[in-house]
Amino acid sequence: MRVTIEVNGERRTADDVWPGESLLYVLRERLGLPGAKNACEQGECGSCTVYLDDTPVCACLVAAGQAEGRSVRTVEGLAGGDGLDPVQEAFVATGAVQCGFCTPGLIVAAHELVHRDPGATDAEIREALAGNLCRCTGYEKILDAVRLAAAKKAGERA
Ligand code: FES
Ligand code: FES
Repeated sequence: MRVTIEVNGERRTADDVWPGESLLYVLRERLGLPGAKNACEQGECGSCTVYLDDTPVCACLVAAGQAEGRSVRTVEGLAGGDGLDPVQEAFVATGAVQCGFCTPGLIVAAHELVHRDPGATDAEIREALAGNLCRCTGYEKILDAVRLAAAKKAGERA
C-alpha cells in the first residue's frame, strides 16, 4: 500500500508498505530518517519516540497505515534554521549524551514536556521520561538537561 505522511513539515510518500509495517521502519528505511532509533521494537525503551500529531509515541508500535494523512515530527525536525533546538543544546551542554542511542527519543519526550510544562518538578520530569530507558548515563545528566531547557523556556515565557 501507499502511505502519505507529513514528516517534519514535508509531504512524504512511501510505496509498497506492507500492512504490518511500523512507522519506525518507514521513517528509517524508506524515508531516510535514522534519528528515531530501533532498540527493542516492543514499546519498552522509548528510543524510537516521535511526535504523531502533537503526541509523543513509540514509532515501533504505530502501524505505518495509522499515520496516513497525519503529521509526524522526528528528532531531525526539532532543529530550526538557527541551529539546534534548546532541548538539544541542553543535552550537549550538560553532557547528557554518552553512546547516544537513547538520546533522540529522550529529546523528543523532553521537548514535549518542556513545551507543555516548563515549571515541571523533578518528579514530573521523571514521570514524563519514565518510558525512555538509558543504559549509560545514570539519568542525572539527563535530568540536568531537562531542568536547563525548562528553565530557559520558563524564562522566555516570563
Ligand atoms: S524501539 Fe520502540 S520502544 Fe524500543
Ligand atoms: S546514552 Fe547510551 S543508552 Fe543513553
